[in-house]
Amino acid sequence: MLRRLFRTLRRWLVAPDGMSTSATMADPAPVVTIDGPSGAGKGTVSQLVAARLGWHLLDSGALYRLVGLAAWQRGVALDSPQDLADLVADIDIRFAGGAGGEERVELDGVNVADRIRTEHCGELASKVAAIPEVRAALVAKQHAFREPPGLVADGRDMGTVIFPDAPLKIFLTASARERARRRHKQLKQKGIDGTFAALYEDIRRRDERDRQRGVAPLAPAPDAMLLDTTSMSIDEVVETVVQLARPMGGRTE
Ligand code: C5P
Repeated sequence: MLRRLFRTLRRWLVAPDGMSTSATMADPAPVVTIDGPSGAGKGTVSQLVAARLGWHLLDSGALYRLVGLAAWQRGVALDSPQDLADLVADIDIRFAGGAGGEERVELDGVNVADRIRTEHCGELASKVAAIPEVRAALVAKQHAFREPPGLVADGRDMGTVIFPDAPLKIFLTASARERARRRHKQLKQKGIDGTFAALYEDIRRRDERDRQRGVAPLAPAPDAMLLDTTSMSIDEVVETVVQLARPMGGRTE
């Protein structure tokens, strides 16, 4: 209440150069970044934290998966950076639903929510994500998600590159074996095929590529909080993050 009053008052104050302070010091919406390797639980945790706080959600992995899928569908070569950047500028991406309702992820008007979750799209995503031109073309699309009352941003470089000023940065980890086990369970529930051994291999290969790439490699921001979720339940992780976000003003009940 007091904080809101202070913000409103500050909007009316006048800076020494005569400009309204809102033009010079406008508070950006708060962001919690949740980064980490595949299968660490970022997706589920981010969705639940966003719902608890009443904030927006950015699933940046879905953006890379969409670009990978679009490139594959249109036959754009993965070794052609400029064609891929042009593709990013050309495709129409929309997110809807989530948090209880059915998730819709639209690529040029077609719902591809299930399709982008396959290992094939994960593999394509990880390849296009290693291309600097693709990453650069996606920056503005990611910044556009930062809207009041706040944002939970899920990815690999949310705290290091996209929102380096985020007041709360979390880096979730879990052993590769545990992450493969979780992904296996998740895919089985969705009726998607995949053996544990193949998933474990995929996760290790994808981790390796994400960590080694020259641009925005997977790494915790220096000011990130590391949370090893190997033996934590989803509820415990969500509760920990929600409590840490409490001073940032989100709904926490
Ligand atoms: O998180 P998810 O598994 O959906 O991400 C798919 C792939 O997209 C990752 O393996 C990674 O290569 C890439 N990615 C990325 N930067 C992000 C999010 C995802 O490079 N911020």
